Amino acid sequence: MYILGIESTCDETAAAVVEDGRRVVSNVIATSVEEQALYGGVVPEIASRRHIESISAVVDQALEKAGLTASQLDGIAVSFAPGLIGAVLVGVNYAKGLSLATGVPLVPVHHLRGHIAANYLTCPDLEPPFLCLVASGGHSHIVQVESYTRYKILGRTVDDAAGEAFDKVARTLGLPYPGGPSVSQAAKTGNPKAYKLPVPHVEGPYNVSFSGLKTAVLNEVNQANMKGQPVNVPDMAASFQERIAQILAQKLLDAARDTEAKTICLAGGVAANGRLRQLVNDGAQKLGAKVHLPQLRYCGDNGAMIAAQGYYELQAGHTAGLDLNGLPTLPIDYQD
Ligand code: KG4
Ligand code: ZN
Repeated sequence: MYILGIESTCDETAAAVVEDGRRVVSNVIATSVEEQALYGGVVPEIASRRHIESISAVVDQALEKAGLTASQLDGIAVSFAPGLIGAVLVGVNYAKGLSLATGVPLVPVHHLRGHIAANYLTCPDLEPPFLCLVASGGHSHIVQVESYTRYKILGRTVDDAAGEAFDKVARTLGLPYPGGPSVSQAAKTGNPKAYKLPVPHVEGPYNVSFSGLKTAVLNEVNQANMKGQPVNVPDMAASFQERIAQILAQKLLDAARDTEAKTICLAGGVAANGRLRQLVNDGAQKLGAKVHLPQLRYCGDNGAMIAAQGYYELQAGHTAGLDLNGLPTLPIDYQD
């Protein structure tokens, strides 16, 4: 079965064809990230405009590289929630038009379910149940993936998402957007023990909180500036990365231990973080759990992960009509 996946919830316009939910046949991504970096973050209006300009060519390329016409597809999967609504609607409306023109079923895919499905592309024998930390620019969840379309949220951030914390700290340190890659790049030459950053207290065994950590970095930078001794950027980047990776890995591993999870996965843009991957790998080994990590190219937003999840949603009979709407928010465990 060939599924086309369309993704436009943030600043990537992406389309891909995936066979049977596992084999990537084509994967095309256009991004407005360089333009967004000029403003220090995603400007929703710019993202929507760039999606409109790119979507047609991106989908055409994905089909062309796969050697398929749209009518030969078995499903048209689209990331319909959550995301920047103006951006989401570009993908949703394009997918609806293509479905109407071809008669190919329209398959709505939750963006975070897509991130989790990136693991199916990397690990051909991975099957639910497994435990997954989904950490992106907008969300941080610890999720029990009970089946391909059933999820249970065990923990979440009570304030900022992990990616958002990286982005905000990068800004404070004068590093470019997106903050994840620029902070980890700067951290390479820094000492992770240079600055003592707090471990925020939070209710709930698997919840996380990052706003106190972000404020602690800001306070250090302001105090250093007032004393006329600017903060050491690589040291602060390394200290921050170490702390946030420790928090995320610890909560995930606590949840894995308590639920006796046999398999642990990471998903979302922050899953590309090398230190987080290392800590989760090491901790899981001690627990005797298997770890699956998505390939770096499938951590950030892409169409292949949407197509992969779309395959399983289609198998479960989750199709939509032309009244499908995009949504800015929607829990991952919504009732299909
Ligand atoms: O999943 P994603 O591509 O888009 C959303 O759905 O939000 O995640 C983007 C987020 C950004 O906040 C970015 O700074 C972060 O993922 N990110 C990283 C890394 N690469 C991207 N965070 C930490 N380390 C990285 N290497
Ligand atoms: Zn995403």
